[in-house]
Amino acid sequence: MKNIVVLVSGGGTNLQALIDAEKSGIITNGKITCVISSKPDVYALERAKNNGIKTRVLARKDYGDIASYSRAMLDALNEEKADLVVYAGFMTILDEQIVRAYPNKMMNVHPALIPSFCGKGYYGLRVHEEALKKGVKLTGATVHFVTEVCDGGPIILQKAVEVKDDDTPEVLQKRVMEQAEWKILPQAVSLFCDDRLEVKDNRVYIK
Ligand code: GAR
Repeated sequence: MKNIVVLVSGGGTNLQALIDAEKSGIITNGKITCVISSKPDVYALERAKNNGIKTRVLARKDYGDIASYSRAMLDALNEEKADLVVYAGFMTILDEQIVRAYPNKMMNVHPALIPSFCGKGYYGLRVHEEALKKGVKLTGATVHFVTEVCDGGPIILQKAVEVKDDDTPEVLQKRVMEQAEWKILPQAVSLFCDDRLEVKDNRVYIK
């Protein structure tokens, strides 16, 4: 049974999708053992508490720079004996010391089809605003392993979602979450926990 530690910064709907997947048996070989938030008082922490999951707050604002924050996060992940770390709406970039300690053991869900609308500055609603500005007809979500390159790690799963003419960023965000993120994130976690993901030359193969 793998220990899954979920990192959050906000509402936590992706965390909820993982909790539901564990309950319904979509994730069988892993257990969410801790939720760590970069902000106090976010609803994701309530979701964890409501489901009896241990929570920790590592507030980004309490640390002077990314290096000291990353060190504190690394200590927390080691204390929690994390086998898999999931960024589920986690809005803080961590430095390479974490990635080196957990190679191909950290995954992130991004609300676009990478390599579109990704990288530094592309997060949350901003991603959907840019997709609408560009006028793309398809967008979607990507789950990928975390590397030093922001949103640049090996892609595990992607799912496309249609963009409609009258979409607002909020409407599009909701459709991408419902049709893509909440499906492919639990699937990717399940594949990881079943030891079915193999990474070779920056590509992920599903065994
Ligand atoms: C989700 O759409 C997630 O993909 C996105 O933030 C939202 C968090 O929602 N993450 C990023 O943009 C990371 N670059 P949630 O807190 O309800 O899961």
